[in-house]
Amino acid sequence: MKSKAIGVFDSGLGGLTSVKELMKILPGEDIIYFGDTGRVPYGTRSEDTIKKYTKQDIAFLKSFDIKIILVACGTVSSVALPHIKNEDIKIVGVVEPASKAAVKATRNKKIGVIGTTGTIKSNSYKNLIEKIAPDTEVYQNACPLFVPLVENGYFEHEATRIIVKEYLQPLMDAGVDTIILGCTHYPLLKKIIGETVGRDVVLIDSGKAAADYVKEILEKENMLNEKHTGDYKFYSSDSGNFRPLAQVFLEREIEEVKQIDIEKVETNE
Ligand code: DGL
Repeated sequence: MKSKAIGVFDSGLGGLTSVKELMKILPGEDIIYFGDTGRVPYGTRSEDTIKKYTKQDIAFLKSFDIKIILVACGTVSSVALPHIKNEDIKIVGVVEPASKAAVKATRNKKIGVIGTTGTIKSNSYKNLIEKIAPDTEVYQNACPLFVPLVENGYFEHEATRIIVKEYLQPLMDAGVDTIILGCTHYPLLKKIIGETVGRDVVLIDSGKAAADYVKEILEKENMLNEKHTGDYKFYSSDSGNFRPLAQVFLEREIEEVKQIDIEKVETNE
């Protein structure tokens, strides 16, 4: 069990923010990443489509020898994961770890959540935060333009700054002191978001929080790989500009990205 890999997937490149953290905190682990770049974005799609895609993504990762799956996608974690029947392998999403981290971080008990349209419509973060910290107010805003900006590498573009201000202003007006970056693409915009909301606002990186949670689980269940360096494999459903952008996300070189036909992956439903 210990020597099996960690499977990670996202609708595109965003989940690499989790992978980057896993590489840092669990350097001996092998990682298999799938980015569904051929079908990104998920966040604007119907619940049924997101569920269908999620089942295929999970089935693809399960075709490898893996010990845990990290769903490094806020949309899948919010919209599909609660409906996925799964008995044979542990699957971890980003909503629970990020919500817990935000509850810990807030001082004035006003938390902002930003995510894709699907994530915000599901109220996943809001419902969980209100359950674990009922005295907390949660303000949400969907930011549908962030994913295409990130997937196109517009991390520090002036257009991005204008859009960030537009989306974040309602949360600033509400006086939040903590904001969950509820989509794993958003940490790539962290610099501009931070400059827009100011230093006093704590930004919670959902992908990073989820990676920390995976570490906690593997430690607790005695499943840590005892190797010194991990092997990394990357798959995508459209290799397009995956490799150059992935290297920006990960801040390291990657050798190869294999393209697969995710539509052909069969699920047992
Ligand atoms: N990284 C995904 C998320 O965390 C991006 C969403 C999308 O594909 O729209 O929600």
